[in-house]
Amino acid sequence: MTEAYFAESTIDWAAVELPDAWPDRLDWSRPTTAFRLLRRAMSRSRERVTLPDGLPGADRISKYILQEFHNLPNGNYSKHISAGYARGFDRAMLGTMAAGRARVARALAGATRVIDLGCGGGHLAGVLKASGVPEVLGLDPSPYLLQFAAKAYPGIRWVQGMAERTGLPDASVDGAAICFLLHEVPPKYLEEVLAELRRIVRPGGRLAVLEPSPVQWRLSWWPVIRGHGWRGAYFKWLSLSVFEPFLDPWHRQPFAERLAAHGFQVEADEVGCPFRYVQAVREGAPAVVPSPC
Ligand SMILES: C[S@@+](CC[C@H](N)C(=O)[O-])C[C@H]1O[C@@H](n2cnc3c(N)ncnc32)[C@H](O)[C@@H]1O
Repeated sequence: MTEAYFAESTIDWAAVELPDAWPDRLDWSRPTTAFRLLRRAMSRSRERVTLPDGLPGADRISKYILQEFHNLPNGNYSKHISAGYARGFDRAMLGTMAAGRARVARALAGATRVIDLGCGGGHLAGVLKASGVPEVLGLDPSPYLLQFAAKAYPGIRWVQGMAERTGLPDASVDGAAICFLLHEVPPKYLEEVLAELRRIVRPGGRLAVLEPSPVQWRLSWWPVIRGHGWRGAYFKWLSLSVFEPFLDPWHRQPFAERLAAHGFQVEADEVGCPFRYVQAVREGAPAVVPSPC
C-alpha cells in the first residue's frame, strides 16, 4: 500500500492552469487598485474567501480556512496575492525564518521521507530537500501556493490536502515538519491533526514544529521590550495586527501534553521570540526491516 501510494504519479502543480480568483481580475495598472486592497487589508471587518469556479480540489478545502488570514484579500486563494504572500512572509518575519527552518531540518537529518504539513510557498520543504532528505512531500490546501512552491522547488512531491486528512498510508513517513501551521487550526481540528500525525509517522519517526511564540502574544509591551528589544516589540505589534482567528486558543492549550497523549515523546519545547520550537519522537519500536538475505 505504502509503496504503491508513493509510486503513483502526482499532479504537476507547476503546469496546472489555475482559474483567476477575484483579486487576479482587478486592473493592477491602476494605482487605485492597490489603494483599495490596502484599505480592505487594514479594515477590521473580514470577508469570507470566495473560491473561483473550476478550482482543482475545492471540495477538499475545509470551510474554516476560507477566511482572510493575515488580512490578505481572498486569503491564500488567488495567483497575485498568494505569490506576494509566499515571497513576503519571510521579510515580514525580519529574516528569522531561515534559522527556524534550519532548526527543523537539523532535527530531521537522517530521515528518508519527510512531509511538510501546511507547506505554503514550499520554503521549508525546499530547505529539507537541500539538507539531503531524499524524499520530501509538501502538503497544503491552496492550489495557488502549491503552484508557487512547485515552480520554486522542483523535485518535491506536492500534495493538495488538509493536515487532518492527508491521505497518506499508515506509518509511511519517518519525519513530519510543521512551520507556522498549527496556530491556524481551530482546536477541534487540531485534535484531528495530532491523530493524523500519530497515524502517518512511523514509530521512531520524528516531528519538528515551529510556531509563533506565546512571548509576543501574552506578555505586555514593557516585558517584551525589556526581554527582546525592538524586535520583540515589532513581533508583538504584528501578532496584534494580523488576522489570526485561532491564535489565542493555540496559545492556551497544553500542546506538549496533547502530543504526549497522541503517542509522541517530547524531546524539546523551547520558547523564544518570535518562535516556539517543539520536537518529539513517535513512540513504539521502529518496524524491523527484513534483511534481503
Ligand atoms: C503561515 S502559512 C505557513 C507556510 C509555510 N509553512 C511557511 O513556513 O512558509 C500557513 C499555511 O498553512 C496552510 N494551512 C492552513 N490550515 C491548514 C490545514 N488544516 N492543513 C494543511 N495546511 C493548512 C495554509 O494554506 C498556509 O499555506
